[in-house]
Amino acid sequence: MLDEIDSHVNLVYIFQPFFVPASMTVTRSELAKIAQRARLFAYAPYSKFRVGAALLTTGGKVFTGCNVENSSYSLTICAERTAIFKAISEGHQRFKALAVASDDPGFTPPCGACRQVLIDLAGNIDFIMVNKRGQLKTVTMKSLMPLAFTKKNLDRSKRKK
Ligand code: THU
Repeated sequence: MLDEIDSHVNLVYIFQPFFVPASMTVTRSELAKIAQRARLFAYAPYSKFRVGAALLTTGGKVFTGCNVENSSYSLTICAERTAIFKAISEGHQRFKALAVASDDPGFTPPCGACRQVLIDLAGNIDFIMVNKRGQLKTVTMKSLMPLAFTKKNLDRSKRKK
């Protein structure tokens, strides 16, 4: 399975974090393939619902993530948050797009917790959903999370009146 996906992805993407030289850009379908590959590392013994994410920075790096479940169910983390926390913890704070691949024959939208984290930490990036057949559907984070509570609200309240 890994080989099958790798054969579609340029070798340059195989090393993590994925780095794309400035002259190259990652296409939506390449980001989708990277998310499909990340899905294979999901730890989902409870839901059996595997999810993979690939987050593209403005500098061309790709950070991957997968869902990691826990026997204390509520401590589970989604693929999207794994990817963005990995990126931020390695010094990257500006993003372009996030692809999410699942076993769902339909398109899997992000949960509420991930919507909050993504709009707050990544802003209005493209959110690319990849279904089981590899088809893509792209929406903006703003459309998924209108009227979001973000750092701006906190900053405004600190301003002198
Ligand atoms: N999950 C994600 O990782 N991302 C999503 O966008 C939807 C849900 C995970 C969390 C849990 O491990 C499993 O899918 C079932 O909810």
